[in-house]
Amino acid sequence: MKRKAIYPGSFDPPTNGHLDLIERGSKIFDELVVGVLSNPEKDPLFSVADRRKMLEAMTTDFDNVTVDTFDGLTVDYALRVGASAVLRGIRAISDYEYELQMALMNRKLQPGLETVFMMPAEKYSYLSSRLVREIAQLGGSIDCLVPPLVAQKLREKLDVAHKFADANAGGHETSGKETAGRKTKSRRKKS
Ligand code: PNS
Repeated sequence: MKRKAIYPGSFDPPTNGHLDLIERGSKIFDELVVGVLSNPEKDPLFSVADRRKMLEAMTTDFDNVTVDTFDGLTVDYALRVGASAVLRGIRAISDYEYELQMALMNRKLQPGLETVFMMPAEKYSYLSSRLVREIAQLGGSIDCLVPPLVAQKLREKLDVAHKFADANAGGHETSGKETAGRKTKSRRKKS
């Protein structure tokens, strides 16, 4: 019988840490489905379609990895695609409490479904999508944190956001850190 797992997450955006985990997961499962959660309550930077495309491009080298989107409960999604395990990454002790709670709740909801935790490479243990978004938004370098394609998409996305904000400012004098940050970034971009 084939061992099939899902790797669910927000992936907003996908990082090198996610890719590391996908690679590890692809070695221990026959099939791995990366499931991008479509969660209307969150206010994501990237659309689900964009996140899916980025993940598809990142995983072309793995024959047994596919990318999909889902909504609703993770356990229901796992059943729908015929997976017997949920893959999750644990970077540090701080992840453990939340992950344990989720794994035990998923077990309560669906006792036959196992959660498998894997650790990414140490160099990714401090990496998160939230930090990548924040660093990119504040003009820091994210090149070694995400695959080149994701870095490019982040730059495009933030360029559009900055242009929109600048257009809305309408040339009026504004104050505050955010505006200062934008000006700094525009200068950097030209140089
Ligand atoms: O990448 P994330 O945001 O840490 O992933 C969290 C995710 C998607 C795995 C979790 O929020 C989830 O499973 N959501 C689907 C809804 C669900 O099943 N909730 C009950 C979890 S016990």
